Amino acid sequence: DTAAPRDLHGRVLRDLRISVVDRCNFRCPYCMPEDQYPRDHEFLSKAERLRFEEIERLARVFADLGVHKLRLTGGEPLLRRDLPELVRKLAAVPGIDDVALTTNGSLLAAHAQDLRDAGLRRITLSLDTIEPETFRRMSGGRGDVGVVLEAIAAAERAGFGPLKFNVVVMRGTNDGEVLGLLERFRGSGHIVRFIEYMDVGTCNDWRRDLVVPSAELRARIAARWPLVALEPNYGGEVASRYAFADGGGEIGFISSVTEPFCGDCSRARLSADGRLYTCLFASHGHDLRGPLRAGMRDDELAGLIGAVWKARDDRYSELRSEATLATREHVEMYAIGG
Ligand code: GTP
Ligand code: 5AD
Ligand code: SF4
Ligand code: SF4
Repeated sequence: DTAAPRDLHGRVLRDLRISVVDRCNFRCPYCMPEDQYPRDHEFLSKAERLRFEEIERLARVFADLGVHKLRLTGGEPLLRRDLPELVRKLAAVPGIDDVALTTNGSLLAAHAQDLRDAGLRRITLSLDTIEPETFRRMSGGRGDVGVVLEAIAAAERAGFGPLKFNVVVMRGTNDGEVLGLLERFRGSGHIVRFIEYMDVGTCNDWRRDLVVPSAELRARIAARWPLVALEPNYGGEVASRYAFADGGGEIGFISSVTEPFCGDCSRARLSADGRLYTCLFASHGHDLRGPLRAGMRDDELAGLIGAVWKARDDRYSELRSEATLATREHVEMYAIGG
């Protein structure tokens, strides 16, 4: 029996994000802008990616170390074939009580029911705007908002809900369309969350003046629909929650730039090639695939992962400064899926 490890700041490991593929069919400017990410970039081959059985095995080890929540991400996770099969395996892992998916929604409609039947509990969709032209621009010319709205309807029919919508807010691009988005989803039961544009990865042209601080956005929204603050659902929750005072439902703000939340960050990330990252802004990951394929036993893997976690010192968002920005040697967002 392995004790739940604590990192150097006393934080436990509760939440594992699993990237199942590093490819994406979108080219969002804040993540993998078409004209910025290296042309010769080679995505992972099938042999490099963890097989479902390998992911399941690692999930069992992580669950023994205290993880109870899993989130599947990408790139775009639905580009990985037979994803419901993986969901079924993960939902059956002892200790795991929550399996969620983050997707851009472009391929969701056809898979929503299968995912539900396999045991997926929750879905978060990226939805930066409902304006067709802006949506197209913010997906790098690849996405169609109509397809995503259909996917939302399909997810509702399959029994998912409330859904969460992630909105990355970029000043001058979609910040003027926030009220329209809320107008559309207020009262639907779904939860819209506004994310401050972050300096993740190395290929977006992040600038602080493109960030709309959550406080500013919140004031703009509250001027139209008064808001009341809600208590967090659980310690270490990423989004700060608000409700429309008139009963129109819940929204959230994820303010990694202006109000960092590293203090109780309990999240680990596993890339599709089996590297363990202890921070969204880490410069490198710890290889788990090598040991796994070399025949390491579960208890040895637990020891390895526990040791990485115990040595964890990350609190990038709290330390962000000109100096950290200048030495940008970060894992790409599409490799660990946010
Ligand atoms: P639930 O609370 O389980 O619903 O999920 P969540 O709020 O953690 O949602 P999700 O995984 O969709 O996170 C939303 C977004 O918040 C991500 O896409 C990231 O942009 C950002 N985010 C999540 N975790 C972290 C983190 O540890 N650090 C930073 N800086 N940003 C994060
Ligand atoms: N800043 C903030 N959020 C980002 N995401 C991707 N790149 C960024 C960034 N630079 C979020 C998207 C998506 C999730 C996987 O990560 O909103 O929902
Ligand atoms: Fe956009 Fe997500 Fe694809 Fe990145 S992985 S380009 S955020 S859809
Ligand atoms: Fe956790 Fe790193 Fe994000 Fe801070 S910056 S909340 S340590 S993932």
